[in-house]
Amino acid sequence: MISKYGKVAIAFHWLIALLVIANFVLVSMAEDLPREARGALMSPHKAVGVAILLLSVARLFWRFGHKPPPLPTSIPAWQAGLGKFVHLLFYFLIIAVPLSGWLMASAHPQAPPVDFFGLFDATLPLGKSKELAGFGHDAHEILTKPLFLLILLHIIGALKHQFADRLPFVQRMWP
Ligand code: HEM
Ligand code: HEM
Repeated sequence: MISKYGKVAIAFHWLIALLVIANFVLVSMAEDLPREARGALMSPHKAVGVAILLLSVARLFWRFGHKPPPLPTSIPAWQAGLGKFVHLLFYFLIIAVPLSGWLMASAHPQAPPVDFFGLFDATLPLGKSKELAGFGHDAHEILTKPLFLLILLHIIGALKHQFADRLPFVQRMWP
């Protein structure tokens, strides 16, 4: 018997994972474009990012009331501890990274409004401030790096348990 995460936890996990990966792809495609053309990709980057933030806060609240299933007992304590630490940092980063971007994009004096998929203006009502935009920019640039590294570490960890340890591990989070 495989002990699995619940359906809601699995839905949150994969929806947020896909959106986070999409946002890294969008921004790296935008970087190669001339300045005037970047908006076409940066506008969805911002909207997807705001959606990630809202989903992540909802996911965190859900997580408080729903414990993960027990790990296979063959996983050594240090690996279980590392996994817990990575998950904790993930929860921090999937909130702090989009929040810092949202602060930057809302407070920047020359930035266009944050458009949520053409549905409404999602600019935070903070007023324009170069200092706040600068803080958001620096935090965004710094925090996206550990997020990227954690994704790699997380995938390597999951595949190691799956294939090297021969445990049905990815199934724990598989729909
Ligand atoms: C790309 C962004 C991703 C993020 C932000 C992310 C985040 C997380 C978080 C926060 C958890 C812990 C869930 C909890 O206990 O509440 C988790 C668990 C898990 N993730 Fe991901 N994940 C990502 C991608 C992936 C990918 C691509 C895989 C496939 C290899 C994967 C496989 C798993 C598995 C198997 C678990 C369960 C781990 C366990 O039982 O201890 N994740 N993920
Ligand atoms: C989890 C969600 C997000 C991820 C993974 C992400 C990732 C990134 C990355 C990797 C960069 C390039 C940073 C660099 O220059 O090294 C970037 C830039 C940027 N992001 Fe995000 N982002 C997210 C959410 C957001 C949100 C919510 C907004 C605004 C509402 C936003 C606005 C921006 C802007 C304006 C830039 C360009 C900054 C510049 O011109 O230097 N991002 N993002």
